[in-house]
Amino acid sequence: MNPISPVLIAQVTDIHLFAAENHQLLGIPTTESFKVVMERLKELKSEIDLLLLTGDLSGDGTSQSYDNLQSLVNQLQIPTYWLAGNHDCAIAMNEILNIGMISRRKSFQRGNWNFILLNSTVTGCVHGHLAPNTLNWLDSELAKLGNNPTLIALHHPPVSVNSAWLDSSSLENSKEFLAVLDRHPQVKLVLFGHIHQQFQRQRGNVGYLGTPSTCIQFRSNSPTFSIDQKTPGFRLLKLYPSGIWETSVERVPYFHPLELAAMGY
Ligand SMILES: [Fe+2]
Repeated sequence: MNPISPVLIAQVTDIHLFAAENHQLLGIPTTESFKVVMERLKELKSEIDLLLLTGDLSGDGTSQSYDNLQSLVNQLQIPTYWLAGNHDCAIAMNEILNIGMISRRKSFQRGNWNFILLNSTVTGCVHGHLAPNTLNWLDSELAKLGNNPTLIALHHPPVSVNSAWLDSSSLENSKEFLAVLDRHPQVKLVLFGHIHQQFQRQRGNVGYLGTPSTCIQFRSNSPTFSIDQKTPGFRLLKLYPSGIWETSVERVPYFHPLELAAMGY
């Protein structure tokens, strides 16, 4: 690898696959919309170094949904890492999503960057929380890995996203999480899912990035639940060895008539 060339990461999130491939989430057949995102990733395949799947990969937590996911993702032949969201079943994921190009490892290196993936889920809850063990592991992993630029990913946003209804189900103990990051200035980026929309904020030296879902989109800056008509998407990140990063969100041309009136939204 060229010492000054960046690694290209694709963040794909909130896929919400179901056991039945025609199952819909709020009117969107999630397998169909994910397949359109997959088509775009196939076009970019030779440039992408790795895929990060940041939770709510399943909508029903079934083993079949993860079987469906792994057989689709493995077609890309891109090294893939993942973490759990509130709709996921961590036990089934650990068993199934560790095959072919998909790894369940939660700490790894690529192109001078370190990557640490955290489980912020709480069984039976929509909001997130990082357990003491997880925070301790993060702190010791950051100390052990040293000064290389570092990207951390988790499902729940650790900062406010300016939507009261989403902020009420974000990371409950973000203060403790941010306190760990403040001790390790090599952390450059925090990636999350859960909010089904594009979001970017800088806090100190760290960029906080939220990313559209591959299915339904939520309206930004809305105090209450609100669907956005934007199309599904994903995020690309260029990570340079120096710690500099660039990012963009891509949307795919997938349109499906939402039956919102019938659902009362
Ligand atoms: Fe979520």
